[in-house]
Amino acid sequence: MKPEKILYGGDYNPEQWLDEPDILEQDIQMMKEAHINTVTLGVFSWAVLEPEEGKYDFEWLDGIVDRLIKEGFSIILATPSGARPKWMADKYPEVLRVDANRQRALYGYRHNHCYTSPVYRQKVREINMRLAERYGSREGVILWHISNEYGGECHCPLCQEAFRTWLKEKYQDIHTLNKAWSTTFWSHTYQSFDQIESPSPRGETFLHALNLDWKRFVTDQTADFIREEIQAVRDGGSTLPTTINMMYDYEGLDYHKLADLVDVISWDTYPAWHKEPETETAMDNGMQHDFMRSLKHQPYLMMESCPSATNWQSVSKLKKPGLLSAQSMQAIAHGSDSVLYFQIRQSRGASEKFHGAVIDHYGGTDTRVFREVSHIGVDLEKICELKGAVTNAEVAVIYDIENRWAIEDAQGPRNKGMYYKQAVEKSYYAFRKLGLNVDVISMDQEFGSYKILAAPMAYMFRAGFAERVRDFVAKGGIFITTYWSGVVDENDRCYLGATPAGLTDVLGLRATEIDGLYDHETNQLVPEDRSIFATKISYECRHLCQLIDVSTARILMTYGTDFYQSQPAVTFQPYGMGYGYYIGADVEQSCYDDLYRRIVELSRVHVPVEQVPEGVEVTTREKDGDVYIIAQNFTPNDLFIDLGEGELLLGNSSGKISTYETIIMRRRKQ
Ligand code: GLA
Ligand code: ZN
Repeated sequence: MKPEKILYGGDYNPEQWLDEPDILEQDIQMMKEAHINTVTLGVFSWAVLEPEEGKYDFEWLDGIVDRLIKEGFSIILATPSGARPKWMADKYPEVLRVDANRQRALYGYRHNHCYTSPVYRQKVREINMRLAERYGSREGVILWHISNEYGGECHCPLCQEAFRTWLKEKYQDIHTLNKAWSTTFWSHTYQSFDQIESPSPRGETFLHALNLDWKRFVTDQTADFIREEIQAVRDGGSTLPTTINMMYDYEGLDYHKLADLVDVISWDTYPAWHKEPETETAMDNGMQHDFMRSLKHQPYLMMESCPSATNWQSVSKLKKPGLLSAQSMQAIAHGSDSVLYFQIRQSRGASEKFHGAVIDHYGGTDTRVFREVSHIGVDLEKICELKGAVTNAEVAVIYDIENRWAIEDAQGPRNKGMYYKQAVEKSYYAFRKLGLNVDVISMDQEFGSYKILAAPMAYMFRAGFAERVRDFVAKGGIFITTYWSGVVDENDRCYLGATPAGLTDVLGLRATEIDGLYDHETNQLVPEDRSIFATKISYECRHLCQLIDVSTARILMTYGTDFYQSQPAVTFQPYGMGYGYYIGADVEQSCYDDLYRRIVELSRVHVPVEQVPEGVEVTTREKDGDVYIIAQNFTPNDLFIDLGEGELLLGNSSGKISTYETIIMRRRKQ
């Protein structure tokens, strides 16, 4: 069943209230009042569903599911593997995780099971199948929420064995592994696969290729676990779509490898608003939305967000009036088909008792948060036709997890911060300030159809990447890369010869030395061509300055000081039917803004809104020949924006857009 509504609601934990039956009825009334239409059930219900091994109790859940469906709510049903019952850990200690120091955890917390343990997999299979048999074909149950926020790693003997098997499959013989891992360094050569241990602070952490393969294994093992969870649901007879809820900028897993396992991408977002200028937080959150959407290039779900203050950030900041609406609409703007909260009702005890919720301990509808939640519910009904609308982007930025693992692991030009994410953000922000939709993709994703591709700090060029970029540029694509790119292969082994490996002719240069700057140091980039860089005489750069030997590239900027003063820093050149740009230093945002504005002007990229005021986010979604233009103001000031002709779905038509306001306009696509 595919409801024609934007999903609105969130995590609901009625198992915490079984001894107070009135609560469910109150909640149902209040949810209806707030225009909530969806709840996520069962995320942490295992101990209530299977209070003793093999003894199941579904009756309480039957009652709740029946009631909710009768009242017209959609249900997202979770498998409970995110936290397990105590009896299980006591009887089968192998389900508990072992840390990198080889110490097994005691029972407690959550999200901390061994992904390899056959016992755990079997127990999960049994409960998942039963849930699927019972609820997996119910009208009103719309989606499987598989486990919760997969993450972390286990170093138990079972996982070690699985890792060795994984390595054997990958390398076949130990000599190939030794070569790939550069083990002759410090005499770390292995004689057989049986000797290999996962990285440990008590053992090996300096073989970067081992660290990389371990992280890849952790993703693959998690993927295997997810696959089994989903298979159990299928074997229980349910054909409903599945999702896993992913996390903000999570670096423990390669989400690209998990995306194909599920039908729908979803993620949990908890931005720390009111900490820095809201526009920065909005950009950062927007980039994560775009990363999630780009995993499948489809509408996705915002599975969790906080209606009030969280209780786990260093300071639990209230959302100022209007901000919750802006945060919720931002999800829709970037391609989400839902606004879901953690949580509907605040728990009474334990670690999340002060975490924000739609219904707090007071329990009434006359609260500021409840009123705002209700208001958003009404707005989402007004704009429900956006459900299923797709996001088309002509520009993309590469943000690659393996590249990140490798950059952060390597002892190199700056061990106190390479600022990879910030480098990606600078490219992303520069595009977004022009109101362009931006896809945020991995190095392995398809990029042939974009008009502009930015690959900041693409340190690791995995096999085939350089060739694909060459082809892209030859056919007319604009490729932008930066310092510290094309340095190593997928095993973190340095390329021999000129770098960026395989692209020196596309860029018309060769990177030579790279200077790490102390925190207090700066240099400048000085434009050669003032017509492009109109806003400043020079731009400040920090952290890293790449020195380059230019062969055929045209020089756009040079360094302002130090022994490399006047040497080239930013270049471009035509190649085939396209262009290759190179940015040599970690330069300030305004330089990216100026350069990218110019590149976009010269390209065939369509800009949806001519003048985007600073701090206003513009995005578009498309459906059935209509384009929805969405503008959001994250600044403290009233601003003006001309969105052109169209039918207004949300906001006002005066051209004024006030703080936290969202305007949504529909018009026919030309
Ligand atoms: C995560 C979890 C939820 C809850 C929230 C609190 O996203 O998935 O169960 O703990 O954090 O913010
Ligand atoms: Zn394990």
